[in-house]
Amino acid sequence: MARLAVDPAFVVGSLDRRLFGSFVEHMGRCVYTGIYEPEHPDADDDGFRTDVLALVRELGVTAIRYPGGNFVSNYNWEDGVGPKQDRPRKLDLAWRAIEPNQFGTDEFVAWSRKAGVEPIWAVNLGTRGIQEAVELLSYCNLPAGTELPDRRVANGSKEPHDIRVWCLGNEMDGPWQIGHKTADEYARLAEETANAMRRVDPGLELVACGSSNAGMPTFGDWERTVLERTYDLVDHISLHAYYEPKDGDQASFLAAAEEMDRMITSVVATADHVKALKRSDKEITLSFDEWNVWYQQHFPGELGLDVREVSPLIEDTYTVDDAVVVGSLLITLLRHADRVKIACLAQLVNVIGPIRTEPGGAAWRQTIFHPFALTAQHAGSTVLRTEIAGPEVDTRAYGRVPALWSTATYEESTGEVVLFVVNRGETGTVELEVPLHAFGHLEVTEHLALHDDDRAAVNTAAQPDRVVPRPVDGTGVDSGICRATLPPASWHMIRLS
Ligand code: AHR
Repeated sequence: MARLAVDPAFVVGSLDRRLFGSFVEHMGRCVYTGIYEPEHPDADDDGFRTDVLALVRELGVTAIRYPGGNFVSNYNWEDGVGPKQDRPRKLDLAWRAIEPNQFGTDEFVAWSRKAGVEPIWAVNLGTRGIQEAVELLSYCNLPAGTELPDRRVANGSKEPHDIRVWCLGNEMDGPWQIGHKTADEYARLAEETANAMRRVDPGLELVACGSSNAGMPTFGDWERTVLERTYDLVDHISLHAYYEPKDGDQASFLAAAEEMDRMITSVVATADHVKALKRSDKEITLSFDEWNVWYQQHFPGELGLDVREVSPLIEDTYTVDDAVVVGSLLITLLRHADRVKIACLAQLVNVIGPIRTEPGGAAWRQTIFHPFALTAQHAGSTVLRTEIAGPEVDTRAYGRVPALWSTATYEESTGEVVLFVVNRGETGTVELEVPLHAFGHLEVTEHLALHDDDRAAVNTAAQPDRVVPRPVDGTGVDSGICRATLPPASWHMIRLS
């Protein structure tokens, strides 16, 4: 038995809906034959796959980071604008792939408008720098009347693209990054780039690169060095993390939210340390702009040395357990809604994506699509603290942790309370009780769960709906206490109003 405490008086913070962001990189088949495929029977006049656009809208994604990723660190944005027949084919050094440049800045902005998402842009601080960032920003955001915005107008976009959030490079701490830098080198470049970009458009939100993952030898020190230089110039610091089972240790994998939680706590502490050093009133917030389950062990050496045309890269097929973990990672992001303001599920289509496509064929929802879509659709505007007393599970990676992981949201306009709960235990059904007296009268309107006796079940083109959320019978409120049964390795959304 477990008891979950929640009260409208105990608020984490208001939810920034950019927490439900995603990521489109020129990598594998994310762009080409993912979101863009002019030859596809469902392509619109711009060559965008309308079947994919419909799934993106259903997923509830709010903001999308583009164009990379490692790709951005050797990308010339100028190659991807203007008449398509004049655009060069280029070798992308990040993925050793031929980039046909048939999809670029203007296409992504047009696609984002159709998808109903806010574009988030990354600039190349690997092979390029201040001038390129300023020129790209001018091309995108300035009104007509000078050279670069006039080029945008000539390319068909009269109005400025008005992109508000800009990332200052990508994973610049990683030796794999083209143009990789030390913390000091990056901090200086980010500082000067931010300064120059703010001269073009003072109201931007800027994201400084944090560490590529919490296991980097410079983790913590990197964030401190970068923020000491850029504190007054940037708004967010980035975090990236991918999770997978290691050495068959599924128990630790199901508890991967612990790792994300600890990483967020560490970065918040580091940012606040710099705040104290600077005697600043400003609070740096977090952009968790790459996160997901990614089976890196499935793709050793996939990059290889052969130069490839557009072809599959890291197309993970996700299981029920993976979806439970993705649901629990989203819970973690919500639990930190006071500091995490942007988060991007990486990536959107095909490349470790919630959506999969066949070239010329079908598009379908992977298992991880479902907890994301339901959370994005139903999470209310205020995140509430939850505390759970109940069973614990032993994990090799994180020690003894609570079996249940939870968050709750409240929507003032409707009075709806939504509980998001994961049972991370591999064995043992948990009977959950949630006293709700502090909210007044509430009834259960919906309880959906992602759970399957076959935890390795997946969705495929042949069986696209093998794994879907299913309604749970028997959940109800009696004398102000909500009771629900949570089987092992399961994700739940319980709506009450
Ligand atoms: O999302 C795949 C890659 O993972 C991105 O290009 C890079 O930023 C990260 O290492």
